[in-house]
Amino acid sequence: PRPILLTRHGESRDNVRGRIGGDTVLSDAGEIYAKKLANFVEKRLKSEKAASIWTSTLQRTILTASPIVGFPKIQWRALDEINAGVCDGMTYEEIKKNMPEEYESRKKDKLRYRYPRGESYLDVIQRLEPVIIELERQRAPVVVISHQAVLRALYAYFADRPLKEIPHIEHIMLAAVISLLVVILFVLLLHIYAK
Ligand code: G3H
Repeated sequence: PRPILLTRHGESRDNVRGRIGGDTVLSDAGEIYAKKLANFVEKRLKSEKAASIWTSTLQRTILTASPIVGFPKIQWRALDEINAGVCDGMTYEEIKKNMPEEYESRKKDKLRYRYPRGESYLDVIQRLEPVIIELERQRAPVVVISHQAVLRALYAYFADRPLKEIPHIEHIMLAAVISLLVVILFVLLLHIYAK
């Protein structure tokens, strides 16, 4: 079956400082991950001439893809991380201290909470629709290198997890590759069409 491989970017400099959002380059550990991922992808997709690599438009995903050779790379703005609006560049501790009401509202309803001048998880889920349609059309494997909030939404879609679980999915580790088989996709399509 045709796999869809989902992975977060390698660790970024902002990840090291605990800052959300931003557009920093990879840390040393992040660069090591990018090389390991390239190795894995090149081995795993060796005979898959039509495979492609999809990233967001942010440096940390583009740099994670950069050591991979031999496959076309496509950048999608829709794969960019959740926009944290006025909180972009802050740590969670800073948000808690300086904007306690925002911190509490998000804690209460992480799915619907929208960062001031930014996005909610529901916004992210909505903007992913064209990506999902395009993923479903692919005949060859796709490696998606993106961000935590986005991958939670994509994973939940293909694994048929309920909406309310999405912001809390735990296993989207930095640098973990989640492989979804196309079988899941067909089951899901049947499910949608049956509704
Ligand atoms: O920078 C954003 C984070 O990757 C999203 O994580 O929704 O759990 O705060 P969070």
